[in-house]
Amino acid sequence: MKIKTTAAFALTVAALATGFYLSGSPSTAVDLKDTMAKLDIAIIKEDGSIKRPENLDKWIFMGQTIGMTYSDDEPDIDDIGSTSTVLMEPTAYQIFLDTGEFPEGTMMVKIVRQTLSEGGGFFMGEEGGFEIHLKDKERFPKYGSNFWFFMDTEDEYAFGLPEDNVCMTCHIETAQYDTFFTQFYPTIRDKVPHP
Ligand code: HEC
Repeated sequence: MKIKTTAAFALTVAALATGFYLSGSPSTAVDLKDTMAKLDIAIIKEDGSIKRPENLDKWIFMGQTIGMTYSDDEPDIDDIGSTSTVLMEPTAYQIFLDTGEFPEGTMMVKIVRQTLSEGGGFFMGEEGGFEIHLKDKERFPKYGSNFWFFMDTEDEYAFGLPEDNVCMTCHIETAQYDTFFTQFYPTIRDKVPHP
């Protein structure tokens, strides 16, 4: 088995915001009363850190990417890069199907893994990065949602990013729906309003 690349999540800030993604304007966030209470999923401590969600095997698969560098370079087949999987919390997904909106409390996670090769193809190796995107207008009134980035795959809690951060800038400018990159998620991209 040959390790093609490690999945250490080195987000190249210099390569950010190149604007090659499908363009989209964030839709108007809609307040659905009591859904936060109904979801009760994100566990956030007073210091703002968030607990790594459990039971991810029950979350809904959104999409898979390989080798995304967030630049407009051509893919490098000799160094395929890491692979990442995006999952959505299932209660929020059900509410979305019922209402057509992401309720307050919607959470998606992105799990970055090594890309390993065998059998003439590629498969997912060890986890190298874990990120959470939570829609929570009360906590983050400016943009309506924010991110947490786990520094170590062993960490149970991660600190949230300041409300103005480079992650949010890109998600606001280029994500298709409500600051989530639904244009890359086949499970949901035809169900969200198109810009
Ligand atoms: C230059 C653009 C850009 C920047 C900056 C960026 N992202 Fe993203 N993000 C994406 C794209 C494109 C996707 C969808 C494809 C994928 O999974 O990589 C995504 C998907 C995600 C998802 C899955 C849920 C969703 O919102 O669609 C999370 C969680 C996430 N990013 C967290 C982060 C965090 C944390 C940072 C900052 C450390 C960050 N992103 C910075 C472009 C960006």
